[in-house]
Amino acid sequence: MPNKNKLVGKLISFEGSEGSGKSTQIARLAEHLQKLGREVLATREPGGTEIGEQIRNIIVHNSKGDEMCPETELLLFTAARAQLVREVIAPAIIRGAIVLSDRYLDSSTVYQGIARNLAPDPVNQINRFAVGNVMPNVTIVIDVPTDVSLSRIRQRASDLPDRMERENIEFYKKVREGYLLLAQQWPERVVVIDGTQPPDVIEKEIWTAVQQRLDVTRV
Ligand code: TYD
Repeated sequence: MPNKNKLVGKLISFEGSEGSGKSTQIARLAEHLQKLGREVLATREPGGTEIGEQIRNIIVHNSKGDEMCPETELLLFTAARAQLVREVIAPAIIRGAIVLSDRYLDSSTVYQGIARNLAPDPVNQINRFAVGNVMPNVTIVIDVPTDVSLSRIRQRASDLPDRMERENIEFYKKVREGYLLLAQQWPERVVVIDGTQPPDVIEKEIWTAVQQRLDVTRV
């Protein structure tokens, strides 16, 4: 893992349940940062590397996926992340880029730890082992009520919902509550944005929150 002093760029992670509008907002934040002359790199989880894409297929699309136990799921998500960090994210941060990550270790804490009831200590240890010292400088949680999130998933043009998206409403309630809990635990890092607002308002709030927490004008 890189020496912490060499991490001159920044890592901003985006979190929230499905249908929270993360990808739209990542694109908008990228534009703001690029206008300031910053190199921006957007990554997505699970995936983003050849190995990560293969792992993603096993988790999300495997027809036998319903039999996967939560421990396996945790290890697969964190394995994909370990590869992404070393292959893509850390080198980008070392050269001064701002990395915008669509999901990061908080997704494992919330989906596998809280929603699937895995014990928090091992989840945290495995998470930390996978990312090393590459922690997000800021995490944006786009919060939408569970029913809104579910109806957005159902409206998506894509074919059948994937394995994670077939979970029931209780699961997504736990996901939402899990993120809100994380924001209470890490108020300096985690910012909750109301995702039911119009996209332009969300964009402004995210841009303000990022500028308040990071000096994005300098490498
Ligand atoms: P994806 O299609 O990328 O969903 P989204 O567009 O909502 O990000 O699928 C990722 C799914 O995997 C999503 O349901 C969240 C889940 N997930 C976890 O359960 N744990 C994790 O560590 C990560 C990164 C994702």
